[in-house]
Amino acid sequence: MKKTELLREIKKEVVELKSSPLYQERIKNNVFPVIGEGNHDADIMFVGEAPGAKEAATGRPFCGNAGKILDNCLQENGLKREETYITNIVKDRPPRNRDPLPEEIEAYRLFLDRQIEIIQPKIIVSLGRFSTEYILTKFKLEKELKPITALHGKIFNTETNYGKVKIIPIFHPAVAVHDPRKKDTLREGFKVLKNNL
Ligand code: URA
Repeated sequence: MKKTELLREIKKEVVELKSSPLYQERIKNNVFPVIGEGNHDADIMFVGEAPGAKEAATGRPFCGNAGKILDNCLQENGLKREETYITNIVKDRPPRNRDPLPEEIEAYRLFLDRQIEIIQPKIIVSLGRFSTEYILTKFKLEKELKPITALHGKIFNTETNYGKVKIIPIFHPAVAVHDPRKKDTLREGFKVLKNNL
């Protein structure tokens, strides 16, 4: 099967995922799951946490305030959003944007694993502590786990069944939404990404 068909299959399964703890919330609010978007052959994959209000209303990842900051950081480094692939661990919006619960991560994580297998990115950028914890653990780097402040902008090399992958944890762009001074710290993380292409 082609990448597009495999990704479409994931979308179909998530749309029908009645067993998810967030499914009823989606129906009640008449919103969408957010599967991911971008280049199916991307070298860079961004993994965020979970959709916010705007994302759930449109079905598109990082299209709200945090997304504007992400777009801006990409632009500053000459990177095109459409050349990357952007997704989240949790595909439905947790109520009031609260942190995802372990059972919510569990409900969706295999979809992210499949997206990684299909797209085969050379660099996975984990945005924020939840996706960093998941990605480092998934690639058996759990001994490297520290608070995100200590991992931001570090590079972890790993071997997958499709080749070498670099994992770069970066602060979640939302940190700069209410504290513009954090933008500089965020920028440093994106510079690391740019320098490792
Ligand atoms: N925050 C995330 O983690 N993901 C989105 O798609 C939007 C905001």
